[in-house]
Amino acid sequence: MNTENSHGHKHSAYFPDFIEKRLRHCDYKYFKPRKNKKPLVLGNCLPNAGSIMLQSNDYLNISSHPHIRNAQVNMLSAMNREPFMSAVFLHEESLLKRFEKRMAHFTGFESSILCQSGWASNIGLMEVIADSTVPVYIDFFAHMSLWEGIKIAGANAYPFRHNDARHLDRLITEHGQGVVVVDSIYSTSGDIAPLRDIIAVSGHHGCVSVVDESHSLGAYGEHGAGMVSQCGLTDQVHFVTASLAKAFAGRAGIIFCSSRFAKYYPYISNLSIFSTALLDHEIAAFNATLDVVMAENYRREALNENSRYLRESLSSLGYAITSQSQIVSIISGLESDTERLRDALEERNIFGSPFLTPATPKNRSLIRFSVHSGLSRENLDYVLNVCEDIRDEIGMRNWKSTRIKPTTL
Ligand SMILES: Cc1ncc(COP(=O)(O)O)c(C=O)c1O
Repeated sequence: MNTENSHGHKHSAYFPDFIEKRLRHCDYKYFKPRKNKKPLVLGNCLPNAGSIMLQSNDYLNISSHPHIRNAQVNMLSAMNREPFMSAVFLHEESLLKRFEKRMAHFTGFESSILCQSGWASNIGLMEVIADSTVPVYIDFFAHMSLWEGIKIAGANAYPFRHNDARHLDRLITEHGQGVVVVDSIYSTSGDIAPLRDIIAVSGHHGCVSVVDESHSLGAYGEHGAGMVSQCGLTDQVHFVTASLAKAFAGRAGIIFCSSRFAKYYPYISNLSIFSTALLDHEIAAFNATLDVVMAENYRREALNENSRYLRESLSSLGYAITSQSQIVSIISGLESDTERLRDALEERNIFGSPFLTPATPKNRSLIRFSVHSGLSRENLDYVLNVCEDIRDEIGMRNWKSTRIKPTTL
């Protein structure tokens, strides 16, 4: 089929078969099965000002904080030109390098490396520390960016059972010294890694350890220094990575490491050499964000209290909640059940995020609620009342995941 664009040019809408096949498969898999002919992740309604939004990962509710906003605006107004260039050209005096030092000091690491996203930090790190001779031991539910990094590095992945340090131990004994990779908080289920056990096993075998703290940096630890710091493991973990698009509410990622590694990384990582570094107004915002994250402990306290209340109350309503954190997911299982749950919530103005394959195992789809510190008790009670009222409508008592027997609900 040829279509004509506004310049009068003909544009072919079809690709050769090797691309067409993929597009048709996507249509068949994600669009066709749904009533609204949209992928399951897109509901039927748009949120409005009164909606309860549980989709954003701005856990400390700081994205419109005046200190952060003003820092960014002031920098934009004051500057002439932004440094649009790769980080290899940046000197120690640059705003970016000075911010990296501040972040390192904040977590207790010697150095840090600012990256364009959390995705980029995981790919960039794996690309540099692993290759086809290095076994990489990775928790089965670790973030996709870490799996992609292993692929790009050409390394061999040895997945171990989720949160199972003994299985990790057996695998390393069999395949030898390598890299151990985990998330501190798992982004679909919200459960927490047994970091002390994992790092002990990794250290025992002389492995290099990588912990993705995307969901804990800023939200856990003293002044938000993260979970590795909270567990007293900073001296034993080689690398912490994180997305700064969660509690830091910006668009970037970071790697915490030794100063020796940070010195060489910009010149050996393709992601650093061949991609533009963050801009000065973005760094200005992050500097202000770090002030807020460190100073406003009450936000972390509210986040933890809100999360605990939602988790425990949903569990007592009979929902299967495996979360131990601010990521509170309702595992509905079948995609048809997740669609019904999503619709029932959205009709009552509550917006969570549907997760399905490839983000979850098959038939373990779920709705993820990302709790934040700005939710009031009234907001949470509204969500809980809705979740109680809709149990029959969504057939929750018949879900495989539902733990409490129907008679006790
Ligand atoms: C655990 C984890 N690591 C890495 C990332 C990627 O971060 P970003 O969105 O900044 O690329 C995410 C975000 O989805 C994540 O949840």
